Amino acid sequence: MVDERMFHETRSRIDEKVHGLKQENNAEAIQPILEFNQIPTEIKAQLDEYIIGQEEGKKVLSTAIAFHYKRLGTAIKKELAENGGDVEKALKNTNTPKANILIVGPSGCGKTYTSETASNLVGVPFITQDMTKFTEAGYVGQDTSTILSDLLIAANGNPLLAQMGIVYLDEIDKITSSPSIGRDVSGRGVQNGLLKIVEGVDNYVDMGGEKVNISTKHVLFIASGAYENLDLIVKNRMQRQGIDSGERWEDYLLTSDMVNYGMERQLMGRFPVRVVYNPLTSQNLVDIMRESKNSPLHAYTDDFKVWGIDLDVKPGALEIIADYAELEGTGARGLTSIFNRVLLDDMFKLPGTYEGTLEINKEYVEARLKK
Ligand SMILES: Nc1ncnc2c1ncn2[C@@H]1O[C@H](COP(=O)(O)OP(=O)(O)OP(=O)(O)O)[C@@H](O)[C@H]1O
Ligand SMILES: [Mg+2]
Repeated sequence: MVDERMFHETRSRIDEKVHGLKQENNAEAIQPILEFNQIPTEIKAQLDEYIIGQEEGKKVLSTAIAFHYKRLGTAIKKELAENGGDVEKALKNTNTPKANILIVGPSGCGKTYTSETASNLVGVPFITQDMTKFTEAGYVGQDTSTILSDLLIAANGNPLLAQMGIVYLDEIDKITSSPSIGRDVSGRGVQNGLLKIVEGVDNYVDMGGEKVNISTKHVLFIASGAYENLDLIVKNRMQRQGIDSGERWEDYLLTSDMVNYGMERQLMGRFPVRVVYNPLTSQNLVDIMRESKNSPLHAYTDDFKVWGIDLDVKPGALEIIADYAELEGTGARGLTSIFNRVLLDDMFKLPGTYEGTLEINKEYVEARLKK
């Protein structure tokens, strides 16, 4: 009940926001997608600047996204050339096969981050939807309208761009239909509703007093989940089939394993591109601090610099932070809070009272984390 009221309140806020958007029915904004020409290796190379490790994940995502937009752009241009009309009509009349992506992997290892970064690089709207909030098939209309209006907001009110965005479905492993996994059969209803959304649904969204039609037909879906213990299902099957136990289970993941886990076969058929992300090792975590464009170390270094303080990080210090983060089990997500714990005293004391170098060595880190 409370949930429903909250839903309606959020809903009306979102509707208000969409309503306030000015329609940017500007075909120019989608020219870059029509002319899409990035190649997978280029996208991957750009992802490398942000995402550390997950080589297979970056390769799979770059390839799937490059092919999706190249195929879509080409098909729309062909439709325009052959049958004339505008892009809106071409979007409706174009039917291209979609290869949606399923990412399996533990918390904080870069699933969302890779997807969002890749969307930014390609220049398409990106939204995330939490699958635990999805309702059963009967209410699928609400879920659809949330997705459509979120896409429109992410596309700055451009319906054409909105229909070419990426929707990231988080925690898809929480809608399994197998009672043994801890959820009742209603998961099946949610999955069936989702199936329709992934294949393509359309509806009217009220924007600036005008009703615009938005469809998910050309939207690329990326679903992700931790799928705890999925490896046991795959390894058991591998054993039954006499596959060498030294082989990586990740390379043998089949639709039937996902079905055994509680996913509907039909839904999995819509997610033919699959990749398993690894838990980040403590070396990965050190590299994230040193090399990622999004490194918390770089962020804190810049913060201190503004106060005239130069962080001087000595060998061994980052390794201790990485070991702590690894223990927390939240992947790279733990790094910022650990940095904050380590630096808090000096962030409090030093600004305005000291300028110069602040040496961060192993002992400094250890002393603060032991507290
Ligand atoms: N491989 C990585 N390289 C660089 N930074 C990373 C990496 N993985 C995670 N991060 C950092 O950690 C944050 C959290 O990662 P992300 O949101 O991708 O987690 P996730 O895999 O989606 O986990 P969850 O299942 O909990 O949502 C990112 O915003 C990013 O700053
Ligand atoms: Mg995530």
